[in-house]
Amino acid sequence: MSFVKGVSVAEAAAVIRAGRLVAFPTETVYGLGANALDGAAVERIFAAKGRPRTSPLIVHVDSVEMAHDLAARWPDAAETLARRYWPGPLTLVVPKRAVIPDIVTAGLATVGLRMPAHPLALELIRAAGVPIAAPSANRFSELSPTTAGHVPESLADYVLDGGPARVGIESTVLSLVDAPLLLRPGVIPLPEMEALIGPIAVAAAPGTGPHESPGMHARHYRPATPLFLLLPGERPPLGKGAWMRMGREMPENALDYAAVLYETLHRLDAQGLDWIAVERPPDTPEWAGVLDRLRRAAG
Ligand code: TXA
Ligand code: MG
Repeated sequence: MSFVKGVSVAEAAAVIRAGRLVAFPTETVYGLGANALDGAAVERIFAAKGRPRTSPLIVHVDSVEMAHDLAARWPDAAETLARRYWPGPLTLVVPKRAVIPDIVTAGLATVGLRMPAHPLALELIRAAGVPIAAPSANRFSELSPTTAGHVPESLADYVLDGGPARVGIESTVLSLVDAPLLLRPGVIPLPEMEALIGPIAVAAAPGTGPHESPGMHARHYRPATPLFLLLPGERPPLGKGAWMRMGREMPENALDYAAVLYETLHRLDAQGLDWIAVERPPDTPEWAGVLDRLRRAAG
């Protein structure tokens, strides 16, 4: 595959229209995008990532109106949340229209829709003239990329460089197919969304029970270096290691912490250490997204 890195939205849009793959910036992490209405193009995403075909993709839109056109049903709660949080790090799962090929949603009758907040992402969708299906631009089970430099060279036909991702962890995923159900925490605190639409149930973590949601996979990035999530007073094992403590090596605030989390894991994991010791952040709504990613990384 030819590999081009650049800053031209026009070139990137031409690659999308040709049925090929573009890695592009969003405010959460970089995505690996294809024309969401072209099943053959979306096939290339699964092949490039080594992603199981049972794992549905998020479809990125450039407006609430584009979301309306892709949803078979658009609940009031979806309208309320989209008007409040889009463009932004919230994915809404709703019943899909037939125009979205089954490969995009892993055969599910529902689709995850999100309007990303990065200006280049919105320009790309607009210039391509189609919604863009995109998972994070990493190989399956590797760490999500938060810079263009993190994107593995062989994945995409074009990498659109939009600088470091501002949010730093993947979007909050909320299903509105039945009663509201949180499928993946992100940086938006749950009580804030509940204040707008009422109670939201929380899905069991993947692999932990019978209530697993379709499309949730337990397998996730785990650094090669053993990572320990430690409570206050707990100590890491002997050997050479690195700490990630709040207000010391890491920011004190959840949003700032999320913004540098993957970059930090990337860097520390490359140092050949015996351990990475992470001071466990508080179990509060603000920290839910960060805590979820740390738990997965700790295994
Ligand atoms: O921030 C993000 O969400 C990034 C950027 C690129 O937008 N994308 C991302 O995609 O993280 P991915 O493929 O790594 O994660 C998509 C998540 C998965 O947990 C998947 O199961 C869930 O969204 N998902 C997508 N469509 C779904 C559906 N129809 N039903 C249930 N879950 C769905
Ligand atoms: Mg991913």
